[in-house]
Amino acid sequence: MKLVLSLFLPCLLLSAVPLQVVAIDAKALYKDYCSVCHGDNGDGNSHAKQGLVPPPRDFTSPSSTVELTRPRIIHAIRDGVPGTAMTGWKTRLNDDQIEALADLIRIDFMLPSTTETTTEGGQIYAAYCSVCHGDSGKGAVWATTGLSPRPADFTNPQFQTSMTRDHLIQSVSYGRPETAMTGWKKRLTDKQIETVVDFVITAFMPDFTGPVQGEEKVVSAKSTHEHSDGHDHTHADPDTELSVYMSRPPANGLQGNAVRGRDLYINNCATCHGENGDGRGPRAYFINPKPRNFLHTASRASLNRPALQRIISKGKLRTEMPAWEKVFDAQQIADVGEYVFTAFIQP
Ligand code: HEC
Ligand code: HEC
Ligand code: HEC
Repeated sequence: MKLVLSLFLPCLLLSAVPLQVVAIDAKALYKDYCSVCHGDNGDGNSHAKQGLVPPPRDFTSPSSTVELTRPRIIHAIRDGVPGTAMTGWKTRLNDDQIEALADLIRIDFMLPSTTETTTEGGQIYAAYCSVCHGDSGKGAVWATTGLSPRPADFTNPQFQTSMTRDHLIQSVSYGRPETAMTGWKKRLTDKQIETVVDFVITAFMPDFTGPVQGEEKVVSAKSTHEHSDGHDHTHADPDTELSVYMSRPPANGLQGNAVRGRDLYINNCATCHGENGDGRGPRAYFINPKPRNFLHTASRASLNRPALQRIISKGKLRTEMPAWEKVFDAQQIADVGEYVFTAFIQP
């Protein structure tokens, strides 16, 4: 993760995030020292190419995107690749310059972004999200093969109907437990998170239906974040916001029974999620992506009762998490959800 995160630091192109004073002009360094072999566009098309075996790396190829991690690039620039024309630059470039070049390669050549950037949400998406989720919202090519679990496919109808705006905001704020999807609360303001979520909904989710009836209120992209009590919570304390979210009752007027839910859990879920909810049941070893760890902070910040009902009912696409609505009735789903909630999420 460190790799992907540090990649964003130099590209803070958002108005709300003050730009660091940039001392290093990576583009100029690249032009002076690298483009002679790797080409102006990083695709390895250069005059030097003909004479070199192996030829200079094409940074824009899919295999480069997967293979050339940031540490590997830094290592190659610093120490070179023995037996090739790629010599080490550590005597001519300092560490900051080398890192700046590595970021330039990753951002300008490997992850070209064509996302519509006229809206603020689109700009935030392009700067922070499309690297993994792709310009189409289906997941960037490198990420769908290189990450497990892979990024959510926003265009999938099942994803769209199982999500609510609040849940999306929650996931983007606090991240997803034990996945590459980290929380963005430290880097984006609450307003920016709402803006980018609304962008994701508008741009990629035509089948988005909003919340299950009575669960929560859909808020349109332009209006402020208003709760059903009529108060504007836009500037509310984030901890209060979280506890309001986490204390939502189950959807559809159901009341779960944790005692009945416990039996269902032990018989059907513990084999994967573990008896104590840590995601390490006996079957977990064989499964990828891993069953969710309910004790993780990000689970505890995102799995409220309605979310549990929804996810348990619909399952998780492309994972071993089954859709339990085929097996259980709505009451049983509320019961097992209640057990997960009271035993692991908020013990
Ligand atoms: C004289 C030609 C030449 C110059 C100049 C050059 N490279 Fe290379 N570079 C190569 C060749 C050839 C390879 C392919 C090595 C291989 O395939 O193993 C390569 C490979 C790389 C790789 C991939 C290493 C890997 O692990 O596969 C990176 C990253 C890289 N160069 C960055 C740079 C940067 C940054 C500069 C400028 C500071 C630069 N190169 C300058 C010829 C050059
Ligand atoms: C380093 C890669 C990476 C980046 C960057 C990233 N995501 Fe994700 N995202 C993922 C992965 C992986 C998942 C799937 C997590 C899972 O299976 O639960 C995901 C899932 C999601 C989900 C679905 C959450 C859910 O509850 O199922 C949303 C929404 C989302 N990302 C939005 C964003 C937004 C908005 C940004 C930019 C601010 C962003 N992501 C940046 C990798 C990333
Ligand atoms: C065959 C293994 C398996 C069984 C059985 C199973 N799960 Fe899962 N479950 C998974 C996996 C794998 C994931 C994680 C998917 C991912 O990374 O997106 C998951 C995810 C979840 C999530 C979290 C989803 C999220 O978005 O955070 C919940 C809640 C959940 N399971 C509840 C249950 C309940 C309740 C049962 C029993 C009724 C159950 N699971 C049975 C494998 C299983």
